[in-house]
Amino acid sequence: MGDGILISIEGIDGCGKSTQAALLCRHLAARGFAVGPAEAPGTVVREPGGTPAGEAVRRLLLHGPDDLAPWTEALLYAAARAELVERVLRPGLRAGRVLVLDRYIDSSLAYQGHARALGVDEVLAVNAPGLGGLIPDVTVVLCVDPEVALARAVGEADRIEREGLALQRRVADGFAELARRFPGRVRTVDGERPVAEVAEAIAAAVAPLLEAPRV
Ligand SMILES: Nc1ncnc2c1ncn2[C@@H]1O[C@H](COP(=O)(O)OP(=O)(O)O)[C@@H](O)[C@H]1O
Ligand SMILES: [Mg+2]
Repeated sequence: MGDGILISIEGIDGCGKSTQAALLCRHLAARGFAVGPAEAPGTVVREPGGTPAGEAVRRLLLHGPDDLAPWTEALLYAAARAELVERVLRPGLRAGRVLVLDRYIDSSLAYQGHARALGVDEVLAVNAPGLGGLIPDVTVVLCVDPEVALARAVGEADRIEREGLALQRRVADGFAELARRFPGRVRTVDGERPVAEVAEAIAAAVAPLLEAPRV
């Protein structure tokens, strides 16, 4: 799959993903890595979205009808992700770039698979053809108590955030389960500490990957 590196930042709403993904991009760029897609150097790749079709799906998912059926939701995420893999991730990795994702497959497994009880294996199965084997080299899950994360919220809540604390608690359990299931790939980081300390912990979690000899 080329020589690039794929890193995903995961966790519940408000755990600090977007803050930390941006800081990680800056950290990596300062160390001389070619970060982000070639068309948008230095930037985070966000999910759902990151492509024109993906952004259209994002609007539907985050601002569409409240009563989307759970499988509709899961398949829309999978569709946006398939587009991202094909148009952004594969070309970037082939070009040897380091791509930092703000959410990826584990969000679907935690939200739709675990929290919405569609089944982690079932959700993975519908995503697999679109992923085409493109799994992150390392996934950082930011662990923050759902009440703490909710208290951080600013601005208007989106469709999923409006569902509130009960859903976020199930999602947090889902991420904990994924960390146990994929111990080689998934690293948990305490996200309740100050921003700079969390950034240091994430940098340490990805460091072995960057130092490994590239083949
Ligand atoms: N470690 C932290 N401690 C306190 N507040 C934080 C921390 N990390 C992020 N925040 C704040 O919490 C809010 C949510 O962070 P954000 O990065 O948008 O989370 P996410 O992308 O996971 O939803 C923002 O207002 C952000 O400034
Ligand atoms: Mg965010």
